[in-house]
Amino acid sequence: MSDDQPNVLLLGPPGAGKGTQSANVADEYDVPHVTTGDALRANKDMETDYGTPREFMDAGELVPDPVVNEIVAEALSDGEGYVLDGYPRNTEQADYLADITTLDVVCLLAVSDSELVERLTGRRVCDDCGANYHVEFNPPEEEGVCDECGGALIQREDDTEETVKERIDVYHESTEPVVDYYREAGVLREIDGEATPEEVWEELRETIDAAV
Ligand code: AP5
Repeated sequence: MSDDQPNVLLLGPPGAGKGTQSANVADEYDVPHVTTGDALRANKDMETDYGTPREFMDAGELVPDPVVNEIVAEALSDGEGYVLDGYPRNTEQADYLADITTLDVVCLLAVSDSELVERLTGRRVCDDCGANYHVEFNPPEEEGVCDECGGALIQREDDTEETVKERIDVYHESTEPVVDYYREAGVLREIDGEATPEEVWEELRETIDAAV
């Protein structure tokens, strides 16, 4: 472990609750939340050798590895512990990650495909602070308004039913081999991601505490 702060990787399909639980991990262990999805959304129209991230994200496809690897290398460069969410998404990214850092624990949030579609099409995010809600499972106090900062809640462009299904297909094809990669390495811990957010957090915290 790096000093007192853990290096945590959260794995799981789109909508498994990685963003929701990463916020808890970041608070509890005082580590930065490193998320390739948010970093790419903040730079969606950036020109790269491969085109813009938007072209891939809005289609539900993976952004090319060199673009994403650079984001992660930069974000992990201070070595102070982290919770990493959304990366690696294929075994090439997992190999790259192994070259630049050592993970203390890898936690998989396991959720069925049908539940994922319901969660993602009902998700709303704050346009200002990024806080996460769900119209049914985790509604804000006032419809369309963020409890945290009063910002407007919007639907992500890739949360339409068609794009969600494509993202889930990409997960099965490209990211499930990453789950096997860590399972075979003996560092994977599986968590029931279908429990309530509070129950998931309890199991996740116990899992991290036991591993570090
Ligand atoms: P990214 O932003 O990483 O999206 P994702 O992995 O598809 O995951 P999500 O953010 O959609 O879901 P989540 O697991 O964080 O769930 P959340 O907590 O929000 O990536 C987007 C795109 O960027 C990719 O498609 C790709 O194009 C690109 N990209 C990113 N990383 C890349 C990489 N490494 N390589 C290449 N391309 C990359 O929860 C979902 C909803 O469920 C919320 O509404 C929440 O309130 C609700 N919820 C959460 N927990 C529960 C619960 N226990 N019970 C009920 N509801 C719950």
